[in-house]
Amino acid sequence: MSSPTIQVFQGPQDHTLPVVVPVRPVTLHINGQDRTLDIAPWTTLLDALREYLDLTGTKKGCDRGQCGACTVLVDGKRINSCLSLAMMCEGSSIQTIEGLGTEEHLHPLQQAFMDHDAFQCGYCTPGQICSAQGLINEGHAKTEDEVRELMSGNLCRCGAYTNILTAVMEVMNANASKA
Ligand code: FES
Ligand code: FES
Repeated sequence: MSSPTIQVFQGPQDHTLPVVVPVRPVTLHINGQDRTLDIAPWTTLLDALREYLDLTGTKKGCDRGQCGACTVLVDGKRINSCLSLAMMCEGSSIQTIEGLGTEEHLHPLQQAFMDHDAFQCGYCTPGQICSAQGLINEGHAKTEDEVRELMSGNLCRCGAYTNILTAVMEVMNANASKA
């Protein structure tokens, strides 16, 4: 009986070859600090934050732009960090949930979420809060219906929507009365 043959692939199909990943230094301005890291060009901002910088407050839900758990602020605008390459954010100011407040001095949205029980498991909460700050920065929403619509990209599997809306409206109205 003849022995089985072993097929040796050459080129890109040969998964036994060591893979050389080209990395490039990138400096990101995050929560007021410059952070330099060596990453592959295709690294998403979400992975750069979580895997390379230990900023795990930003959550990975779907990793494809459908849940909003990864929302951060870039130059004050809310984005899904899973859909953005880290390299595209060089030169921008990035703010994550870790940069919004401190344990001693909570950001008003963090305080409002606490006051109104606007979370259950909390997994969506950093994204909800960053998105709400982006919404307030945009200044387009005035009514509950508009807030609901413009926050609809942030899903909450626990269904805490009613209290999230209350918390966001409270901070939005407080800001409006100061203006
Ligand atoms: S993890 Fe980015 S939108 Fe879901
Ligand atoms: S609080 Fe659990 S997913 Fe929103």
